Amino acid sequence: MLWPLLVPLLLLLAVSGAQTTRPCFPGCQCEVETFGLFDSFSLTRVDCSGLGPHIMPVPIPLDTAHLDLSSNRLEMVNESVLAGPGYTTLAGLDLSHNLLTSISPTAFSRLRYLESLDLSHNGLVALPAESFTSSPLSDVNLSHNRLREVSISAFTTHSQGRALHVDLSHNLIHRLLPHPTRASLPMPTIQSLNLAWNRLRTVPSLRDLPLRYLSLDGNPLATIGPDAFAGLGGLTHLSLASLQGLPQLAPHSFHELPGLQVLDLSGNPKLTWAGAEVFSGLGSLQELDLSGTGLVPLPEVLLHHLPALQSVSVGQDRRCRRLVREGAYPRQPGSSPKVALHCGDTREYAARGPDIL
Ligand SMILES: *[C@@H]1O[C@H](CO)[C@@H](O)[C@H](O)[C@H]1NC(C)=O
Ligand SMILES: *[C@@H]1O[C@H](CO)[C@@H](O)[C@H](O)[C@H]1NC(C)=O
Repeated sequence: MLWPLLVPLLLLLAVSGAQTTRPCFPGCQCEVETFGLFDSFSLTRVDCSGLGPHIMPVPIPLDTAHLDLSSNRLEMVNESVLAGPGYTTLAGLDLSHNLLTSISPTAFSRLRYLESLDLSHNGLVALPAESFTSSPLSDVNLSHNRLREVSISAFTTHSQGRALHVDLSHNLIHRLLPHPTRASLPMPTIQSLNLAWNRLRTVPSLRDLPLRYLSLDGNPLATIGPDAFAGLGGLTHLSLASLQGLPQLAPHSFHELPGLQVLDLSGNPKLTWAGAEVFSGLGSLQELDLSGTGLVPLPEVLLHHLPALQSVSVGQDRRCRRLVREGAYPRQPGSSPKVALHCGDTREYAARGPDIL
């Protein structure tokens, strides 16, 4: 009896999709992926990377879902080269590794279904306002450009509430202009924002963005004051690794972040203790990365400020875990179980067993 084997196999084939190639613009590769029972729908991925600027405007098949125009030495894109049959339904566009220094404000205006846009590794110096308002974007990658000032309002999309992930890492950003409170455009729905390796000296005001993930790694932040993260109550992950300034953490620096679960302060050798109050208010913090900082040994008072803490990384390859010792039995009424940090070498942890800090 082959049937019991054959049926799941057929279903698997039908659901996972099959790939075939089809005729395409000279030099490009068109790959068709079919999905569903009996290949009921198909998506075409068109790869026109590394061909040169002469290919523009490139005609693409009607059902193109993803177009790769990376590494073509393109200097300019506008709505007349990103238009035509096939472009209207495009969900992904890769323009990375080109020579774009500016984009026309209306360049993407005809891409009404665009969800993912990669503009990384170009020479963009500015972002026009309202560039993305026509598209339901969920991912915009602007890393490795030459942006200096960026306005949060530039990320207003046709989102209808969908979360937006923005990568602005490796630019020259020294100023981020907040979204005006009484702007005509709605607040951008940025849920994750990567600002790593820019020129920010202070934590920019990101008030009222629905942010969950924020990275400010590698910026020359000088101080992180008590109101630095005001209005970001939804943040769950914050990364402040390898800061280039001489970072000072003020007491209550993070008190506006009651939902924060992960805090990365690694690679800041000059970071020194300013008291356990620095970490006050972090009632949900589960993971704290202090590796490569001067913050050792950890005082146990830290645990009182961080009731949800599960693990801390310290020094080189050392990780501490929270341990609850129940104490004498029967428990004295009113006594709380003793908590302690137990630390060990992450490489030899299993072999050697943990030791006590
Ligand atoms: C769009 O860009 C092309 C070059 O890539 C240029 O020839 C054309 O004039 C531009 N169109 C508009 C409307 O700016
Ligand atoms: C953005 O592009 C860079 C360079 O191509 C890449 O390393 C990075 O992972 C991308 N970011 C996201 C969020 O995909």
